[in-house]
Amino acid sequence: MNIAVIGVGYVGLVTGVCLAEIGHKVICQDSDEEKIRVLKEARIPIYEPHLEKLVVRNKNKGRLSFTANLQDAVTNAIAVFICVGTPPLENGEADLSAIEAVTRKIARFSSSYKLIVEKSTVPVQTGLWVERTMNIHRSKNIDFDVASNPEFLREGQAVCDFPHPDRIVIGVQNEKAENLLREIYEPIINCNFNCPIHSGNSCSENELVPLIVTDINSAELIKHASNSFLAMKISFINAIADICEMTGANVRDVAHGIGLDKRIGRDFLRAGIGFGGFCLPKDIQSFIKITKRLGYDFKLLREVEKINEQRIVKVIEKLKRKLSTLKGKTIGLLGLSFKPDTDDIRFSPALKIAQFLLKQGAIVKGYDPEAMGKAEKEFTEVLYCKNAYQTAEKTEALIICTEWEEFKNLDWKQIKSLMIYPFIVDGRNMLIKEQMIKVGFEYVGIGI
Ligand code: UDX
Repeated sequence: MNIAVIGVGYVGLVTGVCLAEIGHKVICQDSDEEKIRVLKEARIPIYEPHLEKLVVRNKNKGRLSFTANLQDAVTNAIAVFICVGTPPLENGEADLSAIEAVTRKIARFSSSYKLIVEKSTVPVQTGLWVERTMNIHRSKNIDFDVASNPEFLREGQAVCDFPHPDRIVIGVQNEKAENLLREIYEPIINCNFNCPIHSGNSCSENELVPLIVTDINSAELIKHASNSFLAMKISFINAIADICEMTGANVRDVAHGIGLDKRIGRDFLRAGIGFGGFCLPKDIQSFIKITKRLGYDFKLLREVEKINEQRIVKVIEKLKRKLSTLKGKTIGLLGLSFKPDTDDIRFSPALKIAQFLLKQGAIVKGYDPEAMGKAEKEFTEVLYCKNAYQTAEKTEALIICTEWEEFKNLDWKQIKSLMIYPFIVDGRNMLIKEQMIKVGFEYVGIGI
């Protein structure tokens, strides 16, 4: 099917490339001409495992192209996926201006039937607004449908998540839209494609994927409710981690013990310095705002958010307990991205910690395997280092902010010898406490 993807951020790019990979003819559009120039050269403007390989392959097969011109993208497409950003406004609500602007253009440039698919995370009832905008601005009386198809892609694993989702959710108003979306996702639903990551039949994740068909409002709500629930699990285990510290219990064991109950599940129970990224924090904020406007005070989610904010304070307290004042002390941060396997630093707990430390007069050094470029541009006061060893040099504490695999295999003896004071705060509980103590560190984890 001819598909247009509008917006080539994380979600748009992965969506476009993966739809091409499963056999569709996809044209991706973005108003950022520099991004498009880079993509036309088959390079990708973000770090996302496997993505570049798929861009090259699908470009070469003639199934994937890029343009900065929205009219070019829309002309031959039957389905148009809207993947533009919905960043938070100052009051926490999602800024839907890009969605509206794009919808108006789609309306103006369409001269044949279009299925407009909302992929960006949007407040419930945005579909109705898209429909209204299309009705007002379509130049001819062209036929169209609106659908919601929320994404559940995790950064760093997005190329794997796309063909192996736990479920595909589509919110539609009629059978025509449903059938088109069924056709688009048929290879994934029926596992009828060559897995781009795991080679051929050896793909262990090959199984039929449930397709959930709902009305548009429900599909939109599923997205917000899912992310809120995930955030709630993280804040819950973080609150339990604090209680573990008060009682001498171990949050790893507690999480294991509760997670094996299938009704609870083992995932998203890793205690630490809290959740970041461009999805969970902003989606929760926007969900709190939406529900408030609807007349419901979502106190539970406000508490989830509050617990998450407190994670940073807890880390600073751990440092102060050991170092007393932080003024003039040098602290090293290992990991700056909001989670491993991504270069994304948006709402990263690491950078919140950096800001907090700088405010207290500390000298902050930092290193990340992939996020240095982005961090250097945005947070100029941090002293950036080439590697973990350089970061450790002459510090009085190291904080592990992101659980990058390479940090597990560091020569910790050498790290210790480089530090003024061998204190480590393991903000992701990624190291083994006993081993670190054996090396000579004063080690503090989260709830362990
Ligand atoms: C999330 C959702 O998982 C995805 O379905 C949605 O579509 C987009 O938002 P993402 O933002 O890529 O994906 O990251 P995710 O893997 O969910 O992690 C979010 C944050 O929570 C990270 O900062 C991570 O470090 C933290 N986290 C996650 C924990 O602190 N503990 C956990 O147990 C899990």
